Amino acid sequence: MSETREIGRRRVLGIGGALGLTAVTALTTAARLARHPASTGGQLRSGVPLPPAFQAPLPLPSVLKPVSASGGVDRYEITQREAPLEILPGVKTPMWTYGGTFPGPTIEARRGRPVTVTHHNELPVPSVVHLHGGRAPATSDGYPTDLVLPRNWQDPSSHMTHGAHDMGGMGGTQGMQGALGMRDPRAVVTRLTRDYSFPMDQRPTLLWYHDHRMDFTAPAIWRGLAGLHIVRDDAEDSLGLPSGPCELPLMIADRAFDDHGNLHYPSLDPTLREQPGVEEAYLAGVLGDVILVNGAPWPVHEVTAVRHRLRVLNASNARHYDLEAVTDDGRRLDLVQVGADQGLLATPVTHRSLPIAPAERYDVVVDFGVVPVGGRVRIVNRLGSGRTRDVMAFKVARKATDHSRVPRDLSYDLPTWRRSDATRIRDFSFRAGRMHGGHGWLIGGLPFDPARSDVTTRLGDVEVWRLIADVHHPVHLHLVGFRVLSRSGRKPLPHDAGLKDTVSLRPGESAEIITRFDGYRGRYLFHCHNAEHEDMGMMANLEII
Ligand code: C2O
Ligand code: CU
Ligand code: CU
Repeated sequence: MSETREIGRRRVLGIGGALGLTAVTALTTAARLARHPASTGGQLRSGVPLPPAFQAPLPLPSVLKPVSASGGVDRYEITQREAPLEILPGVKTPMWTYGGTFPGPTIEARRGRPVTVTHHNELPVPSVVHLHGGRAPATSDGYPTDLVLPRNWQDPSSHMTHGAHDMGGMGGTQGMQGALGMRDPRAVVTRLTRDYSFPMDQRPTLLWYHDHRMDFTAPAIWRGLAGLHIVRDDAEDSLGLPSGPCELPLMIADRAFDDHGNLHYPSLDPTLREQPGVEEAYLAGVLGDVILVNGAPWPVHEVTAVRHRLRVLNASNARHYDLEAVTDDGRRLDLVQVGADQGLLATPVTHRSLPIAPAERYDVVVDFGVVPVGGRVRIVNRLGSGRTRDVMAFKVARKATDHSRVPRDLSYDLPTWRRSDATRIRDFSFRAGRMHGGHGWLIGGLPFDPARSDVTTRLGDVEVWRLIADVHHPVHLHLVGFRVLSRSGRKPLPHDAGLKDTVSLRPGESAEIITRFDGYRGRYLFHCHNAEHEDMGMMANLEII
């Protein structure tokens, strides 16, 4: 599936040939598939009247309290369950939730202090929880077949196969039958509950947890299975960045609603029990016509006229944003980026607008001190049109003394891997193709198969990966952070700075990333984080030995 070259051979083969040809093919496919170059996917239209923008107050997800903090471990409990939520004013929308809210409750963690989250599955389908950006042992990483089965679950295809009978009790290690009839002998399936343990031995940053069930991740996230998990440490706290009420997590996600106020999603099997996939018009991704921030449509938030730290996550399935902050008189405020997916940058990077792909996070400081009291700052998406152009607004309510600062030196512990450190170079194409006789999204020409080994690497090895895309593909690696070395042979873009875990490839683009596979041995993943692409095959195994 991948072309691997040891460094020595690379000199002989040269870099030009294979990748050059790939690029030509990718561009043709891109031209065919990318109907709207700004986003990849088909947009649903809501059937209920939509509220005006900038009326709903911005919700701030509640911070979860540990049930115990003994033995140096913070223990949390979360019950996954259906709940009717008022997302649109006056409309009840049944959702799948972590703990009854959307977003789910936020977990606040300290670097080096372990966290265990016990999840209980009271949903009507199996679930899997993944902590995106978390550095966890493989048993807690939420591999897509490591299902937590709900009460009374009968595997729809179990009568056709062996080995998919009741695993009995918790922690059984037996093969699990995937929805497409693929057997995964290594799956660890439990009933009703599972503990996910995170050492939290990682750089402070904004992580998020979300469902990761094989074939059904996209509709599960769409229904509400997403929440925030923040890691902090003393070094970051001492920087003096805006904090308290001046630090705001912003989970941006688009959705659509049917004429009864239910979430609208074009699943082939709306029960999400048996048949994966979406209607043909949405094979490239599902876009909604309502923009939610922290679960509220186009919200507004009152701020004081000081710097604010915005911890932005794009939790959309397929929608890309290019965010800018615009005042009522048309001025654009600087977006001062202090952090990326995997924590603080070495030094701030100032943007006029900031592209953010699904699953990416940006840590950004905006100074509302330059806005007159009573003024408004709109966050808009330059890639949207009509109502999807608006995201949210800030209303500058009163003056205040700004005690925050944005130091020139933010962090000293960013990895500095060089090409010469790499023991291996691998090439991966991310492209449309055929899968099980229908449309699929493929990595290196193959759809995901939990039983196949794709990448095997040694713990501690540094590798350079060259990724090439036909249409937009935000590529995500589990376990490790990486740095972007180049884009289409040129230097990285300003927003590629820092340590990333998701890199957004634009149509026809290639990128080189470098990382060290350290932390844990075991079976992990890499995949496209367009959630529909991910469900339709664009995922592969990453085995660290
Ligand atoms: Cu956020 Cu494997 O994903
Ligand atoms: Cu992840
Ligand atoms: Cu993709």
